[in-house]
Amino acid sequence: MSSQAPHSTLLIPGPIEFDDAVLQSMSHFAESHVGPPFVKIFGDSLRMLRQLFQTTNPASQPLILSGSGTLGWDLVASNLIERGENALILHTGYFADSFAACLETYGVNATQLKAPIGDRPSLAEIEAALKEKDYKVITITHVDTSTGVLSDIKSVAELVRRVSPNTLVVVDGVCSVGCEEIAFDAWDIDVVLTASQKAIGCPPGLSVLMLSGRAMDRFNTRSSPPASYYASMQNWLPIMKNYEAGKPSYFATPATQLVRALHTTLSQVTSRPLAERFTAHATASARVKAAVAELGLQQLALKPENQANAMTAIKLPEGVTPPDVLPLLMKKGVVFAGGLHKQCASTYIRFGHMGVSVTDPARDDIEKAITALKEVFAEVGK
Ligand SMILES: Cc1ncc(COP(=O)(O)O)c(C=O)c1O
Repeated sequence: MSSQAPHSTLLIPGPIEFDDAVLQSMSHFAESHVGPPFVKIFGDSLRMLRQLFQTTNPASQPLILSGSGTLGWDLVASNLIERGENALILHTGYFADSFAACLETYGVNATQLKAPIGDRPSLAEIEAALKEKDYKVITITHVDTSTGVLSDIKSVAELVRRVSPNTLVVVDGVCSVGCEEIAFDAWDIDVVLTASQKAIGCPPGLSVLMLSGRAMDRFNTRSSPPASYYASMQNWLPIMKNYEAGKPSYFATPATQLVRALHTTLSQVTSRPLAERFTAHATASARVKAAVAELGLQQLALKPENQANAMTAIKLPEGVTPPDVLPLLMKKGVVFAGGLHKQCASTYIRFGHMGVSVTDPARDDIEKAITALKEVFAEVGK
């Protein structure tokens, strides 16, 4: 029996439902952020991130910062590229526009390579774009939460290494880390940025990153100082290195209770083979997508290889809008999200299937949501 108060099941694409033990970690008594117990929790969390991102390269650098996923964009924009330099943004939805806007805030020239809604730029298009300019950074949204489009990180990273080897490969993994495979070393990625509140299974409030040795070299050879203060790697790198070495250190106060919650969820995630976790998400996703097809509905992401395991963006029947179905779903105890893509937000809803809703056999969240969808579409179809 869950210790949480009865509530509607949260199946938006993040934040997600929590495991009881993760939530209970948040009620830890007050403690010093430089005391040995907390330093150990922080250091262990950094080490578990290495496992989650599948990196054993000692040059890789994990970071845990107070903030949301957006802070990861600022960290990239203010440390790994300089004013007047070029970034190529692969656009698969809303979050590419926002990452581009963040880069432009720091004076970076952001070029977006766009695909039609529900699709992703082809490798041939990416190759042609990379040959046009000297791009210091390419950004890829692993799962765009506005469309449910999955990008093929491995193939894009391979292409970049072949065509433009000095371009840093930056992955926005906010809606993918913890449910879609990421092999940081094997795929030769430079940055993955994510947040605590999606498939990692922690409450919102932490920005989590993994940086490669190549990204660290880029930072160390900047010609200008970092373009921000709170997001400056100069300020944070010594802190992260010290915590991992078990030494107290301070730049800005960490969110101690959230870090404890992160430690609990990462302990759970890394206690099982990662492959098992990715398979569980793929299986749940296939179940949801089959149910959507049975209802005669389409997804925003049309091609199976473009469809995320983290979530499903479900197109509504002609004439039906999110306010017609979301309150009915809510009455049946499931919370879905409305559309988010600027050009078609009123035409679809989003179903997030990540974390304990998928991996905890004691929960029936996914079946409950599928039943609710069937009943609601039968009602609105009348
Ligand atoms: C793909 C993606 N990138 C970035 C963000 C921004 O993260 P946050 O809202 O935690 O700042 C989100 C948020 O949902 C996201 O889905």
